[in-house]
Amino acid sequence: MRHVALTVNGTRHELELEPRELLAQVLRDRLRLTGTNVGCDTSSCGACTVLVDGESAKSCTLLGVQVDGSAITTIEGLAANGTFHPVQQAFHDRHALQCGYCTPGMVMAAVSLIEHGGATSEAAIREGLEGNLCRCTGYHNIVAAVQDASTAMGMST
Ligand code: FES
Ligand code: FES
Repeated sequence: MRHVALTVNGTRHELELEPRELLAQVLRDRLRLTGTNVGCDTSSCGACTVLVDGESAKSCTLLGVQVDGSAITTIEGLAANGTFHPVQQAFHDRHALQCGYCTPGMVMAAVSLIEHGGATSEAAIREGLEGNLCRCTGYHNIVAAVQDASTAMGMST
């Protein structure tokens, strides 16, 4: 076992982890943050996307021990004082989800894309989110939502 300290959604956690435990498992099974979904476990779908020190990352591709000392943001940490993050609000307003399974990862990837100035056009959004799959194929409304959120966040598209 390895001692690991993580700050998740602003709360510091001290954990004893097995070296084989994936960050996705740590979040879901250890911390009960089940908003982060696991769709493939093979780094293909993006359902497990979270922010690690502000960068989007597929949490099934990282070991918990690798992110020792990092600040993690999950979908549970986006809303502030009961108010949706602009990306969450835009997904709601644009009906940018169907079954919702891809949504937490899609939202987190979109937050990172917008914050890094990568949501500059429809084409750029589609390319920036190509690592996130929606099995309901709801891409049209997802892209529209990301464009709206980018505008709301002061990043014009
Ligand atoms: S569960 Fe991580 S990419 Fe699919
Ligand atoms: S809304 Fe169902 S997988 Fe995207």
